[in-house]
Amino acid sequence: MKSTCVGASEGVDSGGGGDRAENERAKSAVESIHSSVKGVGVVFVALLVLVVLISARWVDHVPFLLKTSSSSSSSSTVTEKQISSHYDHAHPKRIPISFACPPNGTSVEHLSCTPRSPPLRTTRTAAGTKTCPGYFRYIHEDLRAWRGAEGITRAAVEGARRFAHFRLVVLGGRAFVERYARPYQTRDVFTLWGILQLLARRPGRVPDLDLMFNCEDPPLVLLDRYRRRRPDAPPLPPLFRYCKDHASADIVFPDWSFWGWPEIKIKPWELLLEDLRKGSERVKWKDREPYAFWKGNPSVSPSREDLLKCNVSNGQEYNARLFTLNWDSETQSGFKKSDLASQCVYRYKIYIDGKSWSVSEKYILACDSPMLLVTTPYQDFFTRGLMPGHHYWPIKPDRKCQSIKFAVDWGNSHPDEAQAIGKAGSGYIQEEVKMDYVYDYMLHLLTEYAKLLRYKPTVPEKATELCLESLACAAEGLEKTFMMDSMAKWVHDSDPCTIPPPFDPKELEEMSRKRDEAIKQVEMWENSYS
Ligand SMILES: *[C@@H]1O[C@H](CO)[C@@H](O)[C@H](O)[C@H]1NC(C)=O
Ligand SMILES: *[C@@H]1O[C@H](CO)[C@@H](O)[C@H](O)[C@H]1NC(C)=O
Repeated sequence: MKSTCVGASEGVDSGGGGDRAENERAKSAVESIHSSVKGVGVVFVALLVLVVLISARWVDHVPFLLKTSSSSSSSSTVTEKQISSHYDHAHPKRIPISFACPPNGTSVEHLSCTPRSPPLRTTRTAAGTKTCPGYFRYIHEDLRAWRGAEGITRAAVEGARRFAHFRLVVLGGRAFVERYARPYQTRDVFTLWGILQLLARRPGRVPDLDLMFNCEDPPLVLLDRYRRRRPDAPPLPPLFRYCKDHASADIVFPDWSFWGWPEIKIKPWELLLEDLRKGSERVKWKDREPYAFWKGNPSVSPSREDLLKCNVSNGQEYNARLFTLNWDSETQSGFKKSDLASQCVYRYKIYIDGKSWSVSEKYILACDSPMLLVTTPYQDFFTRGLMPGHHYWPIKPDRKCQSIKFAVDWGNSHPDEAQAIGKAGSGYIQEEVKMDYVYDYMLHLLTEYAKLLRYKPTVPEKATELCLESLACAAEGLEKTFMMDSMAKWVHDSDPCTIPPPFDPKELEEMSRKRDEAIKQVEMWENSYS
């Protein structure tokens, strides 16, 4: 079982032998681990407790949360059932995925992708496929701008080049990459690793495509710039990245950390999710510290610096217990003190953006402790399914301390409601954002994107073929370990979930109105409390 570059060989000329740059890149990424650990924020959060007497008037407001909770929990029960029947773990004839590195002494610089047999057509079971989680509907939203007759032209894709770290072309199931710039740490390496896993898990399913990818934080494609429809206005460039906001047209894609973040020792999501599940069972919610916890790197944004003012060490009790992540000393101690699963010991966990969105949100949600989310304009692919008041508690960005104090006081005096929010958040992340769905999201997004392409992709001249061995054989240390740990083990021959239909504009409006109302409701309580 040598072959790992999933794909057929027809119709593609470049290929084998051309991965030199790739290997150099992977190697230097490994080297850079040791030198570039500062900066970007990860954050972790956590919680608090303080039993505070709250006057009886708050009881009047309980129905808001109860109502939201109970209506959504019935729908999540359905989702759980759908999920459990969806993936057949016990399939009798699974096809393993594997690859082999060249023997010791062979330079990885000259390593080439093993030619693959034609893509396996997996059996498609027409019946029994389940609908994907609701947040998949935003795939249609992200692509809406290109749905017109013009579609996605080569000129539009090439217009995104100036923002891109790499260009990915998939042809006949094989992946080719042209790198333009190096992003922070190993974000690109792990993103590409994730794409390779998708190709290996779902042979023959990822269509031919051509896309530009940017690995940094803040959204880049500002809608306003392209809306002015001058005759000479360039077409809207389709750019894949990890987050967006309302003013931008970036297409969101799962971030690298789902396959691991070696620089700060964050394991691949599949393993970490299990750790977090166990971690949140260790201490019952009622026995947790009755405070709101956050731990992270404050230097990435003024808003995080501002958050630190709410800490108890500043002489006022805002029910916050905040800790800075010291990158230097944590690097030395192997990040032992930032073990995420052991942070499930506070009743509430704060989420706050870094430079823009932060990958920490999924870890923060997974503890069964309500997430106190400092309201953010940024969205990543899964957070668009979250509802304030049901999955998390909204915190006002311009009154963080008072807002956190109120949230904790409220939760401690309404433990059932607080726990329901904690459970809804963890249930969402455990069930709807598990790895199988992350891959299904990628597959549907790429499929819908490819449908809009108005040209036949070709391998760019400077691209090199990407395959499991070209990334993994060159990797060392933790980078290699995480790659092996997050490698897809088997070909998935059951169908992916079925993508739900696009929103109609009324539905979108309705959802955004519900969100705003929930946030306003909490603000009103807060105002009358202080
Ligand atoms: C290859 O080299 C590594 C490290 O030098 C060593 O641990 C490993 O056993 C070697 N493998 C073989 C097959 O010789
Ligand atoms: C916040 O307060 C706690 C408790 O006094 C203290 O241990 C911690 O270092 C403080 N955090 C910061 C960032 O000052």
